[in-house]
Amino acid sequence: MADNPGNSNPHAKLERNAFIFIVFMVIVSSIGAIVEIFPLFKKEVVMEHVEGMRPHTPLELLGMEIYKKEGCYGCHSQQIRVLKDEVERYGHHSLAVESMYDHPFLWGSKRTGPDLARIGEKYSDDWHIAHIINPRSVVPQSIMSRYPHIANEALDTSSILNHMSALRFLGIPYTDHDIEFATEDIKIQLGILADEEKVESFKTRYQGAIIRKFHKTTKEITSMDALIGYLQSLGNKVNLETNTGRSW
Ligand code: HEC
Repeated sequence: MADNPGNSNPHAKLERNAFIFIVFMVIVSSIGAIVEIFPLFKKEVVMEHVEGMRPHTPLELLGMEIYKKEGCYGCHSQQIRVLKDEVERYGHHSLAVESMYDHPFLWGSKRTGPDLARIGEKYSDDWHIAHIINPRSVVPQSIMSRYPHIANEALDTSSILNHMSALRFLGIPYTDHDIEFATEDIKIQLGILADEEKVESFKTRYQGAIIRKFHKTTKEITSMDALIGYLQSLGNKVNLETNTGRSW
C-alpha cells in the first residue's frame, strides 16, 4: 500500500470505490435539481403577475370540449413562443398564467394551421361561422376540415355541473354559486336571459367575458355558440400591460 500514494488521498479513495462514488454523484446532481427544479413547483415563481385572469365561463368550457372533441388541437397550437417571428405574427408571447385554468392545457405540438392562442376577437363571429362550416368559403386555399354539423347541433349542457365540480376538485376556483347556476350563466352570456341583477353577478364572477349571441342566425343554443364563445375568449383575458414578468 505504501507504494501507492494515491490511497491516502481521500479523492482517490472516492474514485476507486464505485458505490461511494455513485452516492456522491447522486448527491451532487440532486443539488442541481433542488436549485433549478424545485422552486418551479411553487406557482408564485412560475406565474407572472397580471391582472384579469379568470376561469372559463360555462359556455367557454363547453366550447373547449367541442374543440377537444373535434380534434382542433391536432392542427392548431395555443402557445406563442418567445421568438421574434412568432411574436410578430401572432402577438404577445403566451404567459404561463394564461393556461393556469386549462385542464388539460391545449398548447398542442403541431401547426398545420396557425397558432390560436390570441385568436380572440381577431375575426367576427360570422367569419368564424362561415369558416367552421366551410373554411374554403373564406380562405379559398385552406386545407382545414369542414365542420358543418357544429352549426346544426343543439348544445349539450348535461355534463356541465359535473365538469365544473371536477375542475373545482383540481383547484379551479368555481364557487357553489358558479356551479349551481351554470346553465343559467350560459343563457346570460348569450344575452338570452337579460335579468339585470343576474347579468351583473355574471359580470363580476367572470370579468371581461363577452356577452352576446355568437351564432346569431339561430335562436337556439348551438354547439357553434359555445365553440365561437371559446375562440373569441382566447388570448383576451389578461391585461398584458400589467405583466411584471419578461416582456418581448
Ligand atoms: C387538418 C388540420 C386542421 C384542423 C383539424 C383544424 N384546422 Fe383550423 N386551420 C387549419 C389551416 C391549414 C388553417 C389556415 C387556413 C384557413 O384559415 O382556413 C386554419 C385556420 C383556422 C383559423 C383561423 C386562424 C387565423 O389566424 O387566421 C381558425 C379560427 C381555426 N382554424 C379554427 C379551427 C377549429 C375551431 C377547428 C376544430 C373545429 C380547426 N380549426 C381544425 C387547419 C386545421
